[in-house]
Amino acid sequence: MSAWLTVTNKHRTTRILNVETVSPTVKTFTFMDGLCAKAKPGQFLMLWIPGVDEIPLSVFHVDRERALVYVAVKRVGEATKALHTMKVGDWVGVRGPFGKNFTLRGGKVLMVGGGVGIAPLTFLAKELADRKFSKTVAVVGAKTKEELIFLDKLKRFCGEKNVLAATEDGSYGVKGLASTLAESVMTQEGFDVVYACGPEPMLRAVLDYAEKGGFYFEASLERLMRCAIGICGSCVIGGYRVCRDGPVFNIHQLKTVKGEFGVWKRDFNGKRIPL
Ligand SMILES: Cc1cc2nc3c(=O)[nH]c(=O)nc-3n(C[C@H](O)[C@H](O)[C@H](O)COP(=O)(O)OP(=O)(O)OC[C@H]3O[C@@H](n4cnc5c(N)ncnc54)[C@H](O)[C@@H]3O)c2cc1C
Ligand code: FES
Repeated sequence: MSAWLTVTNKHRTTRILNVETVSPTVKTFTFMDGLCAKAKPGQFLMLWIPGVDEIPLSVFHVDRERALVYVAVKRVGEATKALHTMKVGDWVGVRGPFGKNFTLRGGKVLMVGGGVGIAPLTFLAKELADRKFSKTVAVVGAKTKEELIFLDKLKRFCGEKNVLAATEDGSYGVKGLASTLAESVMTQEGFDVVYACGPEPMLRAVLDYAEKGGFYFEASLERLMRCAIGICGSCVIGGYRVCRDGPVFNIHQLKTVKGEFGVWKRDFNGKRIPL
């Protein structure tokens, strides 16, 4: 283990400083942690919910001066449900930051985000805006208008007209999937880099369009995680461990795992589950 990982892997406890509801199923949580406040877009932390579980979460914003860390959490199962009931002042545990971040490449950028996967892309959009890279177009999607998170932040970082939305029920933006909207954008315009985060079938579709159009592509992947430091093997995809070699992978790496990426993943017993 590297010296830096030895430091970041140490458990710390901290109190929740702020909770905000951003959609019917997503809340944001703010806490203080000097190490995680150094996270870069795409990196994740392990949040321990006392008495319940420890889960991987992407960092979506940091305030480096005040050592504040922000995560956006979708309520899906036991741990996230328990976290959603927690209040300002409650204790949580934290390890991290872990993993590889998105590489900041200049030029014309396309971001494709789905569901709670939009959150880490807003962190990336802010970093790109801070560096005044030429243009960032964001394509975002969710099931309904209410589930479409952080539109206001993306509009601030990318410019109002550069944020395009799709909803599955047609309640906001175009009716359909973010991947279909991304495909039409990618056939009309050239991009120097395409970044994506969201459900894996969406990521796989965007990988296929990026390959077809000859675009450089990076995506943030999700797999089950326990150790987060490359030891236990529960997050494996092909020859990679998502916690250590990812969660952000580039197009060259993703091409080597096409038999698995967007096709199946493993559950906690190692059994294959179709995606
Ligand atoms: C690198 C990474 C970053 C993530 N970032 C975010 C984020 O910013 N916001 C967010 O809401 N969610 C994020 N997730 C997903 C989040 O970790 C899971 O939703 C959470 O662990 C589910 O726990 P649960 O007990 O509520 O649900 P469970 O009942 O355990 O499971 C519900 C679903 O979540 C999946 N899941 C369960 N445990 C894990 C685990 N340890 N690792 C990955 N997936 C799991 C299961 O396959 C299942 O589909 C991220 C996952 C990874 C791997
Ligand atoms: S979570 Fe243990 S190897 Fe990745």
